[in-house]
Amino acid sequence: MSKKERERKIKYEEFGSLQHLTTEDRKLLECAFDERDHAYAPYSGFRVGACLILENGQKVVGSNQENASFPAGLCAERVALFTAMGSNPGIGVKSIAVAAKNLNDNLESPVFPCGFCAQVLVDLEERQKSPIRIILGVDRGPVIILASSKSILPFAFSSRDL
Ligand code: THU
Repeated sequence: MSKKERERKIKYEEFGSLQHLTTEDRKLLECAFDERDHAYAPYSGFRVGACLILENGQKVVGSNQENASFPAGLCAERVALFTAMGSNPGIGVKSIAVAAKNLNDNLESPVFPCGFCAQVLVDLEERQKSPIRIILGVDRGPVIILASSKSILPFAFSSRDL
């Protein structure tokens, strides 16, 4: 029986601040920062804003919406993604920016989309047959850019497995 050690590398870009981004990326991230104000997060105090841009230049926003029955709430990313998919069928998502703020406002690095949101992103990438760029930011800390959602969920379950 043979055994192989395999390795997967994930490439991503890190910028010192949003001033180093392209104008489009910076504006998208600023939109995500602003969108945190619309979060409803009385239970966790963790506010997340998402702002995505479609291939036609239109922006769609989302923020985390919590519920007293905790699992009923939804992350900012999925609020934005499902809104975009529901109202703009057939138009691809080019990039999504995500910004978080915790209760003590002391995050030092960006947060990554959770597993559920990563799964939704990967599924949508397959559906639209083009990668979705992910731009992650935080008030005081670096900006991280991934060229595809497969970078955050490299072993994703997908429609091709069905
Ligand atoms: N949350 C998001 O909206 N996006 C993420 O990427 C991570 C977590 C939300 C869900 C919940 O309302 C709160 O943050 C704490 O988990």
